[in-house]
Amino acid sequence: MIFTLYNVPFIALGLLATYYLLPYLQSAHKRAIPSPSLAAFTNLWLLLQARQGKRFLSVDEAHKKYGKVVRIAPNHVSIADDNAINVIYGHGNGFLKADFYDAFVSIRRGLFNTRNRAEHTRKRKIVSHTFSAKSIGQFEQYIHANLEIFVEQWNKLSKLEANPKTGYASIDALNWFNYLAFDIIGDLAFGAPFGMLKNGKDIAEMRKSPDEPPKYVAAVEVLNRRGEVSATLGCLPALKPWAKYIPDRFFTEGLAAVENLAGIAIARVNERVKPEVVAQNTRVDLLAHLMEGRDETGEKLGLEELTAEALTQLIAGSDTTSNTSCAILYWCIRTPGVVEKLRKVLDDAIPKDVEVPSYAMVKDIAYLQWVISETMRIHSTSAMGLARQIPEGSSPVEIAGHTFYPGDILSVPSYTVHRSKEIWGADAEEFVPERWENLSARQKAAFIPFSHGPRACVGRNVAEMELLVIVATVFGLFEFQIEQEEEMQTREGFLRKPLGLQVGLRRRVRV
Ligand code: HEM
Repeated sequence: MIFTLYNVPFIALGLLATYYLLPYLQSAHKRAIPSPSLAAFTNLWLLLQARQGKRFLSVDEAHKKYGKVVRIAPNHVSIADDNAINVIYGHGNGFLKADFYDAFVSIRRGLFNTRNRAEHTRKRKIVSHTFSAKSIGQFEQYIHANLEIFVEQWNKLSKLEANPKTGYASIDALNWFNYLAFDIIGDLAFGAPFGMLKNGKDIAEMRKSPDEPPKYVAAVEVLNRRGEVSATLGCLPALKPWAKYIPDRFFTEGLAAVENLAGIAIARVNERVKPEVVAQNTRVDLLAHLMEGRDETGEKLGLEELTAEALTQLIAGSDTTSNTSCAILYWCIRTPGVVEKLRKVLDDAIPKDVEVPSYAMVKDIAYLQWVISETMRIHSTSAMGLARQIPEGSSPVEIAGHTFYPGDILSVPSYTVHRSKEIWGADAEEFVPERWENLSARQKAAFIPFSHGPRACVGRNVAEMELLVIVATVFGLFEFQIEQEEEMQTREGFLRKPLGLQVGLRRRVRV
């Protein structure tokens, strides 16, 4: 064929077709698996669902339509089957985090987005020590101190802003849970709270050096944007270097957010590692433990790695907790009878003159634990299927009647499995804390809010302690009424986040 300008569109079309068809044709074993729309040919279907903040729902709908095994991208198969959890996420098969996680790297790879197994094992060993039972006991004082400021602020609001007719002050509870969770993790991971609770605002102070005037960053917003843009680019990581040229503010502002977030970590850690600060340090927070951590050769983390790990804790430990706290409030106050039962058990366990209970006072209250677990099931803060790849050199793996090969990417969608009627019964879509009283072994294994296996949440014990004391404090001291007509709306970035929760708040009189 003679090359002329006339041929260019045809050549381009041919190249495009090859680009999309080749991966499709190469993976004959996946061809029989149903897929929504063009998902078998292009990652753009999944990317579009993520861009619209509803990936978990689109995948859930695809499973309802096509069954337990659905191809959601040319190389990615979603398996809504609890039998697949241990095969994909457990220690046995050694599946690795997929290239989805490349879109989350800033500064350098941290525990969360490291894909190399040896590198992950090394980091995990160091970070796990940070979360030993002894360290977690030491963290409680920081959680407690921030909860006291939170209560002070809600006491003030319920007095000063109360509507004279109803007696309730109107607030967006999500904002306050964000301030609380960010201040707690700021305190734990960077040595001081961001001051969001005190200011009643999404504002984090950022200084490059102590002599420079502070810059202020809306950290909650930054984290939201960062999660959304990374989870979207993660569907097509090859797009990341070009994303800044996409004429969509979602991408340009999201990428700027990644920089800002890293800036917060750099400023705080630089300050903390100064010899004069280290010499006078009396804190026993997460950063102190990270600074002490050593790998198997006895080496401490270098400054850049330390900063990346502190940033990882900020990202992983902030809006996970605030979104879950907000969802707990929502599900408890919208379900008749739950708040009354909760108050009864809290009043039995917490002395009347105590505003913020200790972990020891609340850790064994079964009903409190049930409402937390039931919310984590029905809301699913981590809702999407977390992508894992079969490593090169592995043997083929049989799952749900299909054979998968090295290079294939698989995931189990948490939201879909958490709401499966086959697993949870006919009332799977309802909020029923009592179901946790007699959980079957199958239900226990299908409950994966913190994921499962070697990449499961390393901060789970801290998260559980935080949630127990937050929920006990909130329901022990305050009364609520829902002040929004519609259901709580959510949007998914990496996490499924409420968009707000408008409630009336007033101080409870305990009899
Ligand atoms: C309700 C609160 C929380 C939920 C629902 C949650 C959930 C999760 C999930 C599902 C993962 C796996 C992510 C993946 O495979 O892509 C994870 C990983 C992780 N979480 Fe959490 N998390 C919570 C709180 C926390 C807290 C408070 C911290 C730290 C203080 C934390 C630190 C981490 C880290 C560092 C990882 C990465 C672990 C690794 O790859 O080895 N999380 N979390």
